[in-house]
Amino acid sequence: MTSKDVVDILQRAYQDEFETIMNYQTNAIVLDGVHAEEVKQNLQDDIQEELDHANQIGLRLKQLDARPPGSAEFDARQNTLQPPEDTTDVYSVIQGVLDVENDAIETYRSLVEAAREANDPVTEDLAVTILTDEEAHRTEFRGFEKEYQDD
Ligand SMILES: [Fe+2]
Ligand SMILES: [Fe+2]
Repeated sequence: MTSKDVVDILQRAYQDEFETIMNYQTNAIVLDGVHAEEVKQNLQDDIQEELDHANQIGLRLKQLDARPPGSAEFDARQNTLQPPEDTTDVYSVIQGVLDVENDAIETYRSLVEAAREANDPVTEDLAVTILTDEEAHRTEFRGFEKEYQDD
């Protein structure tokens, strides 16, 4: 692993954070029903954290003499987190969020490893910090998943 790998993963992570923000925001708006309220509030809270992740990753890219991508380089991947046809289908959104958080956890784990191998402790530290947040997000939505399975 070289510092080029570190930059590649940081740029990928930056895009993923923005795709996550877009899908969390859209689902927080479109979901209907009493049961949806808690999930919607949670998505809104997480959006602020994902935005903070994007900001920190962008700043780190700049420090590494690279740059965060603009929208022209964007390629969307979160197929399972598209707003559901049935807007009361909160369960499908919970599943989609879990997919996205698992993917983020994998990305930040690989960033921890790449940064360590490239002898870049600052990026490694940032990746560990963000990884902690993503694991907390996953735990919240695993809780929602249990609640909905019991219904
Ligand atoms: Fe994030
Ligand atoms: Fe997250």
